[in-house]
Amino acid sequence: MTQAQPPQHIAVVMDGNGRWAKKRLLPRSAGHKMGVKAVRKLIINCVKQKICALTLFAFSSENWQRSEDEVATLMQIFIEHLHKEIPLFQEHNIKLQIIGDLSKFSPELQQQIHDTMHSTANNTGLVVSVAASYGGRWDITQAAKTLAQQVARGELDADDISEALIQQHCCLANLPEPDLFIRTSGEQRISNFLLWQCAYTELYFTEQLWPDFNDESFQAALVWFKKRQRRFGKIIQKQEA
Ligand code: IPE
Ligand code: IPE
Ligand code: MG
Repeated sequence: MTQAQPPQHIAVVMDGNGRWAKKRLLPRSAGHKMGVKAVRKLIINCVKQKICALTLFAFSSENWQRSEDEVATLMQIFIEHLHKEIPLFQEHNIKLQIIGDLSKFSPELQQQIHDTMHSTANNTGLVVSVAASYGGRWDITQAAKTLAQQVARGELDADDISEALIQQHCCLANLPEPDLFIRTSGEQRISNFLLWQCAYTELYFTEQLWPDFNDESFQAALVWFKKRQRRFGKIIQKQEA
């Protein structure tokens, strides 16, 4: 059987922080804090494996509906680490981008996001995209809105709207589509992550809770991915199969 090429782009739904904390009778915030450590390990592993892009689901459009306390804790962790991890990004030549509806964030956080992205913009190694206040439906909607505005201004003919054009206006247009999607915590759903971009992504689910996701877990996902036969709707000739 033909083996899949190593993944260029990995997308991760980092789920299970709350359950990790609950199992230890700790507040949910403790799970989120441990989750950050797992993120750091994964980033280093992606650098070592020469992965081109890593996209992390940190906070969904729907997560705004959690309690005020939990949202505040998550924002606090986000603000703190945006700043704290700059040396790690610089050391490993990592380019950081934040994707999502940033208008929902406080002006202070928007400024910090802008500054951090700016400081790593010229790095040429791994591209880490953090999806925050992100939803796949929001992403497709904002692309549609931009194109509709261009049509209204007479800059674009509606007949020229193609899949390629929509793709160019969705987030992550600068990257190859994700090859491997990893979701921890045993849930087998996409939860409004990269709906457009994951049309042909291989979906890997593990029971492990996100703070427990370590080097071995990442290796296991890569080993699983290697065995996938990716067809993209085509038929693989017998001699290749
Ligand atoms: C994932 O962990 C982190 C975010 C969604 C921000 P959860 O907070 O969803 O943890 P569980 O799923 O309740 O265990
Ligand atoms: C998905 O996890 C979002 C993130 C990991 C940021 P959720 O915990 O919000 O998803 P559901 O509610 O289980 O689908
Ligand atoms: Mg969850």
